Parts: sequence; structure tokens; C-alpha cells
Amino acid sequence: MVWRRAVERTVEPELMEDDAQAEAYAHADFGAANAAFVERFVDTFPELDAGSIVDLGCGPADIPMRIARRLKHVYVTGVDGSAAMLAQGRAMLDDLANRIELVEGTLPGVEVKSPFDAVISNSLLHHLHDPDVLWREVARLGGPGAAVLVADLFRPESEAEVLRLLEQYAADEPEVLRTDFYNSLHAAFTIEEIEAQLERRELALKVERISDRHVAISGRLPSGV
Ligand SMILES: C[S@@+](CC[C@H](N)C(=O)[O-])C[C@H]1O[C@@H](n2cnc3c(N)ncnc32)[C@H](O)[C@@H]1O
Repeated sequence: MVWRRAVERTVEPELMEDDAQAEAYAHADFGAANAAFVERFVDTFPELDAGSIVDLGCGPADIPMRIARRLKHVYVTGVDGSAAMLAQGRAMLDDLANRIELVEGTLPGVEVKSPFDAVISNSLLHHLHDPDVLWREVARLGGPGAAVLVADLFRPESEAEVLRLLEQYAADEPEVLRTDFYNSLHAAFTIEEIEAQLERRELALKVERISDRHVAISGRLPSGV
């Protein structure tokens, strides 16, 4: 018999405001995952090679920078409630500063000029104590017909799987990042929980398990949300 203990959701603080945590995060190697996020965006919405994109919970703005480099005619607004994270991002914008704006603001209710042609978000959902905040903000900021790509961890089914993922993907990381990863796996939603969140808001987006720990949610907002 396989021993299994279901993992209950344990929330973590929403904002990553600590300077040391933000610095460690900004220098961690999320290159492959972030590049894959951008390729997924381009593959899913090949028609969207210009226009405005908002990245919710952009952190140190690695994904806005990668998107702006990949798509030369898009403007990206990155939103995050952590000044420490945005400071890490601002220090790296260089020549992209004319096409990327980083706004300090907390969801829900962040004030940015909308609607955007696309709303993206990576690894924010699991931070939110109320997940509905993300889906309401996606609908508010995207407006009818906007492209949506959200990716995040999903919560494993057992503590044994949490520990396996920790060893497989974070064995050599600094302790602050190992702790972050462990806490994030516990704070994440299951794929079924995400599907239920979308159904409650009547958002017909596609939910796909894309790795042994990641889920992607994509599609176009309906008109009239
Ligand atoms: C795990 S990081 C992800 C950063 C970035 N998207 C990435 O993929 O590297 C989550 C970010 O969401 C931000 N965040 C969490 N809750 C938020 C909220 N309610 N409003 C704005 N930002 C939030 C945190 O401050 C943090 O920078």
C-alpha cells in the first residue's frame, strides 16, 4: 500500500518585501522557466506581436524584460506590491526602460491605465490568500477579448512529493530559496481548485499541467466579463 497524506493549503505572506529575499530571488536561476513562459505566450498568441501587456506580480521583472526583447513592439507594465522586488528589476532595465514601466501597487485595485491587450502572471496566484483577487483583476485589467497567460506551481498530493520536488529542483539552492520553494508548494492550489476558481467566475480558460509542478492557464477573456 502507498502511504499518502493529503497536503492542506498553508498560505504564505503575499508580498516578498524583505530585501535579502528579493535579492536572492532576483539572482536565482529561473531562466529556463521564464523563457518557457515567454515561448508559451508567443506560441499561444502568435498574432500578438504588438500592443500592451500587464504582468501581475512581476517581481524583479525578468519576464517583462524577456517579452520586451522577444516582441519588439510591445509595451509591458509590471505590477508588484514589493518595492524591494521592483528595485531589483529597475536596476536591470537598461535600454528596455522606454518599453517597460514598473508600478508599485497591490492587488486588488492597483491603478494602471487599462484595458491591456494581454494579462500575464507567473507565480503570483499561490501568494494570494484569496485567489479570486487574481481572476477579478485579470478580467478588470484585460477587458473583453484580452489574451491571458497565468502560470504557477500546483500543490502536490502528498508531503513525500513535496520533499521529492524540493530535492530534485532546489537541492543546491541557498536556504532562503529552498524555504521559499517549500512554502510555495504548500501555498499553491491544486489543479482542481484552480478549475473551480475559473468556473465560479465563468472564465472559460484552458488549464494545463505543464510539468511535474507547474500549471498554465491560458485563453482569451470572453466579451462582457
Ligand atoms: C514568486 S514572486 C514571482 C515574481 C515573478 N512573476 C516571477 O515569475 O519571477 C511573486 C511576486 O508577487 C508579488 N505579490 C504577491 N502578492 C501580491 C499582491 N497582492 N499584489 C501585488 N504583488 C503581489 C510578490 O511581492 C512577489 O514579487
